[in-house]
Amino acid sequence: MATNKARIGIIGAGVISGIYLEAPKKFDILENAAIADIDLPRAQAKAEQYGVPKACTVEELLADPSIDIVINLTIPKVHAQVSQAALEAGKSVYSEKPLATHREDAAKLLKLAEDKGLRVGCAPDTFLGAGLQTCRKLIDDGWIGQPLAASAFMLGAGPEKWHPDPEFFFQPGAGPLFDMGPYYLTALVSLLGPISRVTGSAQAVRTERTITSQPKSGTKIKVNTPSHVAGVLDFEGGIVATLITSFDAWYHGLPPIEIYGTEGTLSVPDPNTFGGPVKVRRAGAEGWSEIPFSHNYPANSRGLGVADMAYAMLSGRKHRASGDLAYHVLDTMQSILESSREEKHIHLSSQVDRPAPLPLGLPAGILD
Ligand SMILES: NC(=O)c1ccc[n+]([C@@H]2O[C@H](COP(=O)([O-])OP(=O)(O)OC[C@H]3O[C@@H](n4cnc5c(N)ncnc54)[C@H](O)[C@@H]3O)[C@@H](O)[C@H]2O)c1
Repeated sequence: MATNKARIGIIGAGVISGIYLEAPKKFDILENAAIADIDLPRAQAKAEQYGVPKACTVEELLADPSIDIVINLTIPKVHAQVSQAALEAGKSVYSEKPLATHREDAAKLLKLAEDKGLRVGCAPDTFLGAGLQTCRKLIDDGWIGQPLAASAFMLGAGPEKWHPDPEFFFQPGAGPLFDMGPYYLTALVSLLGPISRVTGSAQAVRTERTITSQPKSGTKIKVNTPSHVAGVLDFEGGIVATLITSFDAWYHGLPPIEIYGTEGTLSVPDPNTFGGPVKVRRAGAEGWSEIPFSHNYPANSRGLGVADMAYAMLSGRKHRASGDLAYHVLDTMQSILESSREEKHIHLSSQVDRPAPLPLGLPAGILD
């Protein structure tokens, strides 16, 4: 970075770009420099709306020597190729999840970044929010004793009910596991450590879906990836977790994440949010206690992971929403689907350390 600000170039001006374009308002270390999209008018509209100095083609953005970090907000099947182009252009990259649709492409990205001395970061960064950092502190401080087991559930009726361009959700590299699994798996790895073995059963009973959101209401989508995935995760150290992700459930009564320990149970908030509630019920307690947050960022703070990466680039420390963590999550997801297809347990080859917790008492917007 030429200065103490990271100049950001966003590629992909779709639904999620708005919250990232607002990140420099929350984190002084970030500065919007440019936005690009294969659909140039989309990039121009976002640039105008958020006061970004330049809307341009992807090639022009990558050729801009002033840009330090590319934020890749394209659709999953092109994440790897767009991130690779950014790295080849000498930029560090922070990608929306998943890092890639296949672990081989993700591994190539990490190797390229290492060879070039660049950073790879990846969403989600919700595990750095107030809710999940408070949970991390409660576990590390022993409030539920030794964690023994966990459960995680993400069920919904499907994004064709709300997203304007929902086709990509039903292609390989998305589906409920690859689309929503990263929130749950990243949270679990941050709380409990790395996963060593997985087992899965995955199905798409409905092979066609009908879009009901606007503007494509009535259009049919062919389903090319499982829409209900049941997985079992074995963590290093023996913790067993159940993970169910589904686009096939109108309603359910299951909690997002629970962690069961020798001294009590931790109720973890929805890991697709930054907030709470965080609840603990210690062995023998009459009921649940809601725990006040120990950390900042209870509201939607997407971009927190990019800001943390920018601070890390300045100081030379590791960044938390890292490519290695995203690779482990991708390896876990791909292995769950392989386990289902191959009808056997899969031992993971990837390993990752738990990312460091955020320090206590940081002022808003500052990460070191
Ligand atoms: N929508 C959400 O609520 C949400 C939330 C969290 C994460 N995400 C993730 O963010 C990413 C983007 O999601 P979205 O909802 O904004 O999708 P979207 O379809 O609204 O936007 C994607 C944009 O990428 C552009 N694009 C596609 N291929 C490109 C390429 N090769 N080069 C340049 N631009 C290209 C498209 O033209 C489009 O404008 C996905 O990975 C998704 O999983 C979305």
